[in-house]
Amino acid sequence: MDKIVEISGLSKAYTQGHEQILVLEGLDFHISKGEFVSIVGPSGSGKSTFLNIVGLLDDVYSGEIKLFGRKLEDLGEAAKAVLRLENIGFVFQFDSLLPEFTVLENIEMPARVLGKGDPAAGLELLRRFGLEEIAGKLPREISGGEKQRAAMLRALRNGPALLIADEPTGNLDRHNSGVIMDDLRAAAGLGAAVLMVTHNEEAARRADRTLHMGGGKLNAV
Ligand SMILES: Nc1ncnc2c1ncn2[C@@H]1O[C@H](COP(=O)(O)OP(=O)(O)O)[C@@H](O)[C@H]1O
Ligand SMILES: [Mg+2]
Repeated sequence: MDKIVEISGLSKAYTQGHEQILVLEGLDFHISKGEFVSIVGPSGSGKSTFLNIVGLLDDVYSGEIKLFGRKLEDLGEAAKAVLRLENIGFVFQFDSLLPEFTVLENIEMPARVLGKGDPAAGLELLRRFGLEEIAGKLPREISGGEKQRAAMLRALRNGPALLIADEPTGNLDRHNSGVIMDDLRAAAGLGAAVLMVTHNEEAARRADRTLHMGGGKLNAV
């Protein structure tokens, strides 16, 4: 299987006052194309820290990371920025759609940033996930679950090889959590590697593999 992310010996410390807090301690990890991996673990164990590093939002760490077969240490800032925009999608717990734009316009944003805006393609994505009827609605006119699904489609708009979701159902009821899990499964079916942090055991079980964050490492559950 094609490896989308390969990590070995990843360590990360935060400095707080005079103290160094070691959050990740020689962690190893990999995920392949089309694979859906969930990460569970206590609050404060370093899950978001890990996702931010994998998603190129934080580059202060030690260890080796390969994304899409390329060593990050060989890439400059500009190359990493392009890699992130073109290949990585993010969904967070409290995702915000831009309130003055329609759902379709929100979904088109990441494509427009790359100069590849095409409302027909955005609409096709909505259709594929059964959401075409909310295309023209404003965020305040749809439900919380629909907002999170729209944010997820926005993350999928550029066809990312890697979809990173940090507690995507943290704010949703059981029904909508299940719908989001179906969507993430479908995203993996379209070929994305899906990496999700969750507190929801039922959600975690929907993944192909579940890992536990603890002691600065990821271990199979
Ligand atoms: N920017 C930061 N500066 C200092 N410490 C941080 C920072 N971000 C997170 N931490 C600390 O790192 C640890 C891991 O945090 P985090 O990755 O957010 O955990 P999780 O997502 O598993 O709840 C926590 O002890 C947190 O307080
Ligand atoms: Mg977190």
